[in-house]
Amino acid sequence: MASLQPVRGTHDILPEQERRHRCVEETARDVAGRYGFEEISLPIFEFTDVFARSIGETSDIVSKEMYTFTDRGDESITLRPEGTAGVARAFISNGLAQHLPLKYFYRGPMFRYERPQKGRQRQFNQIGVELLGVAQPQADIDVIVLGAHFLEALGITEHVTLQLNTLGDPESRAAYRDTLVEYLRDFEKDLSDDSQVRLERNPLRILDSKDKGDQKIVQGAPTIFDSLNEASKDFFATVRQGLDALKIAYTVNPHLVRGLDYYGHTAFEFTTEALGAQGALVAGGRYDGLIKQMGGPDTPGIGWAAGVERLAMMIAEPEDVSKPVAVIPVGDGQKEQAQVIAHQLRHAGFTVELGYSGNMKKRLNRANKLNACAVVILGEDELAKGVVTIRDMSSGEQNECAIDGLIDAVAKYRP
Ligand code: HAM
Repeated sequence: MASLQPVRGTHDILPEQERRHRCVEETARDVAGRYGFEEISLPIFEFTDVFARSIGETSDIVSKEMYTFTDRGDESITLRPEGTAGVARAFISNGLAQHLPLKYFYRGPMFRYERPQKGRQRQFNQIGVELLGVAQPQADIDVIVLGAHFLEALGITEHVTLQLNTLGDPESRAAYRDTLVEYLRDFEKDLSDDSQVRLERNPLRILDSKDKGDQKIVQGAPTIFDSLNEASKDFFATVRQGLDALKIAYTVNPHLVRGLDYYGHTAFEFTTEALGAQGALVAGGRYDGLIKQMGGPDTPGIGWAAGVERLAMMIAEPEDVSKPVAVIPVGDGQKEQAQVIAHQLRHAGFTVELGYSGNMKKRLNRANKLNACAVVILGEDELAKGVVTIRDMSSGEQNECAIDGLIDAVAKYRP
């Protein structure tokens, strides 16, 4: 029945996959914590304007990918397609300007009506960091280094390249826009339909067009480096020197413009070839004009976000460290006592599996499958003597143990 399928582009995250997600999220939280980023949680939906005004009316996200609906109070609401706009909104609505600089870490689901494929869903999870209130390039360096450190902690650096670009300050970008449009006009008829529209509305986006014909044209285009003013050149040079000093390898990619309109100066993506077409793992940049544009105080910002599903596909299988203790009654008469012992062990901090049903062989097999460290077997005669049998699941060795001393005895098998 079609209605029992998940909605296209959404996925159930079952325990094995959830372990991978948790590993990615906990690693990010831990590494971000070392750089002073504190976790925040923001609403999953906002007024549509929060995204429309920040990400840019002409961006793919706003023009065709948002999950927007009118709620019962006749308000236009949108499920968040990303986290930065919400952070900027929260900064303004909580009046946090007195507390700068601020460093936030966040995680959670995002929603975009994109064409689903490997590494691209309509509901996906991001983790992200935002550093507000620092105009100096040292912030850019710190935030990029944090991204590199995070990927290193996940053990996937060897498959990843850092692509780096500058979009300059508004003056440089305006100058570049003119130069680029002038160049592209000569090829207007050969551009893809999408890029012909972009030429009028958002010409820089043509630089990262996926269309082969566009890419050929763009190869010969002037780069932003010729249009940068001195301040923008210096800014980018400082970011590069900082990364060089820390031996963070990167490739300067003048075609990296990013799909969201709020960026200026630094733009970057950690990308991989290992996942096919959807290769961006961690992506971000500087957004100095965003908060002011949304109606708040003039406050610089820089950050990145990463797709949890994409990273989860890249990491090694996380070890399941739960290693439970199984409690198995030999017969129905010991069922109640099994429940009591499980209760005591759980309150002492152990993970305990009760087999619930089946014969001894079946329950031992299940304990084995669950990777149990030990099995506590409750036999009628033993219980009458106040003892139980503990089976070491790695050696198969069995010993009797007084019920009174069970917690200490089981503790020896704990991983
Ligand atoms: P973004 O490049 O749109 O940037 O998304 C960041 C990352 O989220 C991507 O590199 C990718 O790993 C993941 N991602 C995006 N869309 C999907 C999807 N449909 N399915 C699966 N994963 C996806 C932002 O969202 C900015 N807010 C980043 C930022 C933070 N810039 C400054 N601060």
